[in-house]
Amino acid sequence: MRIDVLTLFPAMLDGFLSESMLGRAQEAALLEINVRNVRDWAVDKHRTTDDRPFGGGAGMVMRCEPVFAAIEAVQTPGCRRIYLPPDGAPFTAAKAEELSRQQHLVLLSGHYEGIDQRIRDTVIDEEISIGDYVLTNGTLAAAVVIDALARFIPGVLGEEKSLTHESFTRKLLDFPQYTRPAEYRGMSVPEVLLSGNHTAIEKWRTVEQERKTRQVRPDLLK
Ligand SMILES: C[S@@+](CC[C@H](N)C(=O)[O-])C[C@H]1O[C@@H](n2cnc3c(N)ncnc32)[C@H](O)[C@@H]1O
Repeated sequence: MRIDVLTLFPAMLDGFLSESMLGRAQEAALLEINVRNVRDWAVDKHRTTDDRPFGGGAGMVMRCEPVFAAIEAVQTPGCRRIYLPPDGAPFTAAKAEELSRQQHLVLLSGHYEGIDQRIRDTVIDEEISIGDYVLTNGTLAAAVVIDALARFIPGVLGEEKSLTHESFTRKLLDFPQYTRPAEYRGMSVPEVLLSGNHTAIEKWRTVEQERKTRQVRPDLLK
């Protein structure tokens, strides 16, 4: 799978993309990620990418020319061009899984007050928000989308089965996890986890998942 990220702040992704599972996924050619600086497509001598909003108001808006040129330079037939704004559709595990099956994604990060509406109207296929809050720019949002979808690409996680019990996979949150030592500062690991009885362990985990989901995210059970 190929992903092109269009941003004004490519350096924000340097460490993120080279570490851990994403770094290994690229080394194994499961994922190709290209980070492009939208400023490289600026058309004027000052290489500006933003201008004042028509109609007045605070802030600046990203201009059409560099963004259209950047998208047109990287897009391929059938690719999905995604803008990341706070007023997009909420990002979910189901969306991450769906995106992981695409051949090529273009992720556009905005800045300032956002981007010229004509970009959204013509060269964007989908808009995704990572939550009900406002970031200073969309680069971290692109990172969140890449990280979440990469986990669904076969081979990216060492152990495929680690996805099956995870939060949201079955509309349930995850169960509590423990590791050695079995006793730490007077706190013991639940007895059932040390029993070796796999049926009892599965049952305990399901009960814990339901308890946690009821307590923290009752909306998932509806
Ligand atoms: C300061 S925000 C623009 C906010 C815009 N004026 C509004 O109120 O909807 C600048 C950029 O950050 C990114 N961004 C901010 N919040 C985001 C969120 N919750 N999800 C995804 N991207 C976000 C978008 O790419 C946006 O263009």
